[in-house]
Amino acid sequence: MNLKYIKFKIEDGVGRIQFNRPEKLNAVNPDVLKELETAVELCEGNDDIRVVVLTGNEKAFVAGADIESMAKGDIRNAYKLTDLTLRVQERLADSPKPTIASIAGYALGAGCELALCCDFRIAADNAMLGLPEITLGIIPGGGGTQRLPRLVNPGAAARMILLGEMIKAQEAKDIGLVDKVVPLDQLENETQQWVAKLMTKPALAVRAAKTAMRKGLSTSLKEGLQIEQDLFCMLFGTEDQKEGMAAFMEKRKAVFKGK
Ligand code: COA
Repeated sequence: MNLKYIKFKIEDGVGRIQFNRPEKLNAVNPDVLKELETAVELCEGNDDIRVVVLTGNEKAFVAGADIESMAKGDIRNAYKLTDLTLRVQERLADSPKPTIASIAGYALGAGCELALCCDFRIAADNAMLGLPEITLGIIPGGGGTQRLPRLVNPGAAARMILLGEMIKAQEAKDIGLVDKVVPLDQLENETQQWVAKLMTKPALAVRAAKTAMRKGLSTSLKEGLQIEQDLFCMLFGTEDQKEGMAAFMEKRKAVFKGK
């Protein structure tokens, strides 16, 4: 696959998507977004991939949308860019596989928003997260005003969105924006541990749980409960449900096959 701004590999059941535009701190322009979309699609369609991991480099996960390419834009261009951004982000957020953002350095603007589309965010202690768009005279345009307040308390979200303040990894952990903070040299290992844990889980149940949580967040409680019930019952048609319950009764560890 010929990708310029993204490195993509499949390794031991993991789809590894690495932003690779280091000279611009991995800032995303339409070309980067299209490559990301290709990689996300590949992860979705490849049965060998059980978990998807997004990373950058030690200095930046993604330092935002490319300001240079946005600077001269007009309203029409802004719609074009956000249509693409939202399409790619939704694809990522809707991924049937669990997704992990493994963040070192800057995760700003679109970088923070991409991390918000993942199921888990693991940060190195040098990570800086923020939605600084307000300082550029705009607002987050890739879901930041919607996903952040759904994840953290509204005051913390307002501070990041209205003031554009960047926060360090530990504070991001304190407000619930990241799930774990580790020293930079342990980020890869910590991410791998989360991957390994996810790999032991029944893939169809993980998918169902993710769907229930995601759909439930954008619907009424009544409808959400119905979605949960249907998915719960569906899982009784899987081999993994039989295995999980048999293993419990036989006092052994379940071995799931994703069937
Ligand atoms: N868009 C375009 N280019 C960006 C970028 C972005 N979002 N973020 C960083 N870059 C570029 C810089 O312009 C610079 O390019 P140059 O060497 O050709 O001049 C290069 O990446 C390195 O960045 P630099 O600013 O020199 O690094 P720094 O360590 O001094 O500062 C940041 C790092 C992240 C604080 C700073 O780059 C920054 O504020 N970036 C913009 C963040 C932002 O507002 N994101 C939201 C956009 S909507």
